[in-house]
Amino acid sequence: MNPKILIIGACGQIGTELTHKLRAIYGTENVIASDIRKMNTDVVHSGPFEVVNALDFNQIEHLVEVHQITDVYLMAALLSATAEKNPAFAWDLNMNSLFHVLNLAKAKKIKKIFWPSSIAVFGPTTPKENTPQYTIMEPSTVYGISKQAGERWCEYYHHIFGVDVRSIRYPGLISWSTPPGGGTTDYAVDIYHKALEQSKYECFLSAETKMPMMYMDDAIRATIQIMQADAEKIKIHSSYNLAAMSFTPTQIATEIKKHIPDFEITYQPDFRQQIADSWPASIDDTSAREDWGWKHEFDLGSMTQDMLLHLREQ
Ligand code: SER
Repeated sequence: MNPKILIIGACGQIGTELTHKLRAIYGTENVIASDIRKMNTDVVHSGPFEVVNALDFNQIEHLVEVHQITDVYLMAALLSATAEKNPAFAWDLNMNSLFHVLNLAKAKKIKKIFWPSSIAVFGPTTPKENTPQYTIMEPSTVYGISKQAGERWCEYYHHIFGVDVRSIRYPGLISWSTPPGGGTTDYAVDIYHKALEQSKYECFLSAETKMPMMYMDDAIRATIQIMQADAEKIKIHSSYNLAAMSFTPTQIATEIKKHIPDFEITYQPDFRQQIADSWPASIDDTSAREDWGWKHEFDLGSMTQDMLLHLREQ
C-alpha cells in the first residue's frame, strides 16, 4: 500500500526537493506538503499544501487525521548559524516539533517518521577525520545540542514505545534549486552563485576548513532509501553517519576555476569559523553502507559540473 505522507517544513532547502521526489514516486495526492508560510510557489502549487506551525501539536494532529497520514518527514528546524542568534527559539522549535511527531507515532496515529540529524552532533573533542558512528559527542553549538538530544529521544521512543523513526546525520548539503537556510556549510552553495554572477567570492570560512559535504540528489536518495528499507535493516535508531565527499574552500574554488578560469576567492572568516572548527572534517559511514545499502554518486567534480549547468539554465 502507498504511504500517505506529510512533509513538515516542505518549503526549505531539503523539503522542496523531497516534496517533488516523493510526489513523483507515490503520486501527488499522497504527499501533503506543509510549512509555516506559503514560501515556495513551486511546492505550494504542485500539489496539496497546508499551512502549519510545527510547534502546534493540535494542528499537526488535525492534518494527520484529515489526510490519514502514515509517514511524516519532519524537515522544519533552525540551522546552526541561525540557532546561535536565537538559542531559545531554536531549542523550542528543534525539540518540540520532534516530540509532537514522536508522540503521534507513540499514540499509533502515524506509522513511520523521518527526522534529520546532522554532523553538528559532533564537537571539538570528537576525532576529526573519519569520525566513527560511535564516538565522543560533545556538541558545542545550540543546533548540535538540539540534534544530539533529538537523537537520544528517537532511540528512546524506539526502544520504549516501538516507534519507527529513521534518521541520517546529514553533512553540508549543496543544491541549486532552493537556497539553504542559515547553516555553516552554506558557503558551498553561495560560492557557485557568486562565481557565475561576479567571478569572485568572499568566503566566511578560512581557506583550509575541511568539512563533509553532499550533493542534494544524493541526500534525497539516501532519505528515501532509508525510509523504504525493511525495518529489520535499520539497526541504528539514533541516527546514521552519512558521507559523500569532504573539501575545503580552496578545493571547491579550484574546481570552479576549471569552468570559470577568472574566478577568485578571498577569505573573511566570521563567527561561523568557530562552528566549522568544532565539526568533523570527514565521516565514516560504513554502517549506512552495510545496513541499508547507502552509496553516494556525486563527488566534487561531478557536483560542480551539475551545479553550474543548472544555475546557468536558471
Ligand atoms: N548544514 C548544516 C548547517 O551548517 C549542518 O547540518 O547548519
